[in-house]
Amino acid sequence: MTEKYYITTPIYYPNDVPHLGHAYTTIAADVIARWNSLLKKEVFFLTGTDEHGKKLARVAEKAGLSPKQFVDELIPKFKEAWEKLNIKYNRFIRTTDADHEKVVKEILQKVYDNGDIYKSDYEGLYCTDCEAYYTEKDAPDFACPIHKRPLENLKEESYFFKLSKYQNYLLELYKSNPDFISPIHRKKEIINRVKEGLNDFSISRTSFTWGIPLPFDKKHICYVWFDALLNYISGVDYLTDKTKFRKFWPANAHIIGKDIIWFHTVYWPAMLKSAGIEPPKKVFAHGFWTVRSEKIGKTAGNAIKIEQLISYGGADTARYFLLRQTPFGDDGDFDEKAIVDRHNNELANKLGNLISRVSTLAEKYGLEKAKPISSAALIKKVTKNFNDLELDKALNEIFTFIDELNEFIQNKKPWATLDKKVLYQLANGIKDFTILLSPFIPETCGKIAQTFNFELSLESLNSPLEISEIKKSEILFKKI
Ligand code: MSP
Repeated sequence: MTEKYYITTPIYYPNDVPHLGHAYTTIAADVIARWNSLLKKEVFFLTGTDEHGKKLARVAEKAGLSPKQFVDELIPKFKEAWEKLNIKYNRFIRTTDADHEKVVKEILQKVYDNGDIYKSDYEGLYCTDCEAYYTEKDAPDFACPIHKRPLENLKEESYFFKLSKYQNYLLELYKSNPDFISPIHRKKEIINRVKEGLNDFSISRTSFTWGIPLPFDKKHICYVWFDALLNYISGVDYLTDKTKFRKFWPANAHIIGKDIIWFHTVYWPAMLKSAGIEPPKKVFAHGFWTVRSEKIGKTAGNAIKIEQLISYGGADTARYFLLRQTPFGDDGDFDEKAIVDRHNNELANKLGNLISRVSTLAEKYGLEKAKPISSAALIKKVTKNFNDLELDKALNEIFTFIDELNEFIQNKKPWATLDKKVLYQLANGIKDFTILLSPFIPETCGKIAQTFNFELSLESLNSPLEISEIKKSEILFKKI
């Protein structure tokens, strides 16, 4: 039976066009999804948009549109962005999709019937941009700690979810699934906070109407996070295709930014437990990108749009840069010089030149079978890196191997010796690292595979390159 692999990104708020931050998560998830496809797993990769809530209703109103009209205009921008970045998702879920709305109602009813939802009054300091309440402890100056804007004092009748009841369940979950919260350094903080005790959280609002009404009290609109998190089960047809749901759930990895780790590692598994559904296997929170050391934000006006991101050397340069520049899990800083340097030095010089030299010589002199340069150690390391989601390290290993091939060609001088065996060894080495590199920069690797006539597959990785007639490669990366 083929193994399955289910991976997700957060669903993004379509209140504006996507930027570098959204691209980062989506590219990372795409790379991991492609890696698992390469391993012949049946992969399901879910991404999408989080369309309800007060924040969206507000931006739509400002734009003079209904919320639905507003999001309908923005969704194509997300889809175009992902296409430009060569993202191969299986479903683009929208929280306004009819099947998702049904799932939300069903789960709300289930959790209500289980006695985990009760009505009370809510009064607190609210940030509409976060769609979250803050306590005075988190916001001593009554300003949102993230957006720095004043918090609103909201009082409303609301339904609450009994999160407090799940404290022990959660602590037990973290203990028995040591990888559930990754990377490890994010785990301690969550565990400590959960140990301090959990407050029940409000799951409904009455101050606006843009959202999903509670099935047991239609005056109340479901809180946007309760609605949004459920996308991960509606995305694999929780209600409409039980076989599919059973095949893919629990998700293997929710890839998110560190800003939303609390929702994913505390609210979400508690909600699932209450509904009698297994928790996901892993939540991986990556770090945040700044632009020239400044936080990305609409107010700062420094959000890097997708067009800009791919303007340097195309999608592969963008994908490569974002995953190479900073350890996956840590914060990173984007600046033009860094992306241009990596494009020129690593993609154009190291990778591009190797392909160009070897393919040019192979066209002229041909190949003759010889003992391959071993890539077993590389394959082992990259596999481990992917298991640990250390994507930057996988790239590092692959580029170390490329350096070794560059040294090999320099030492053996096949342009002088015309040694066809050396050319074969080089071409075979190129095959091996290209297959491993293909989840990261699929377009370029596709071209290399065509030049040297091999497939980007596991079988091809495990068998020596067949001799064929080789034509000189086009230039893969033009220097900037
Ligand atoms: N709609 C919620 C998520 C619901 S998931 C059930 C949301 N949306 S968001 O549009 O604000 O996207 C947040 C996510 O975008 C982050 O978790 C992260 O994946 C990505 N990023 C947004 N800005 C980012 C950076 N500056 N750097 C890195 N990633 C960032 O929260």
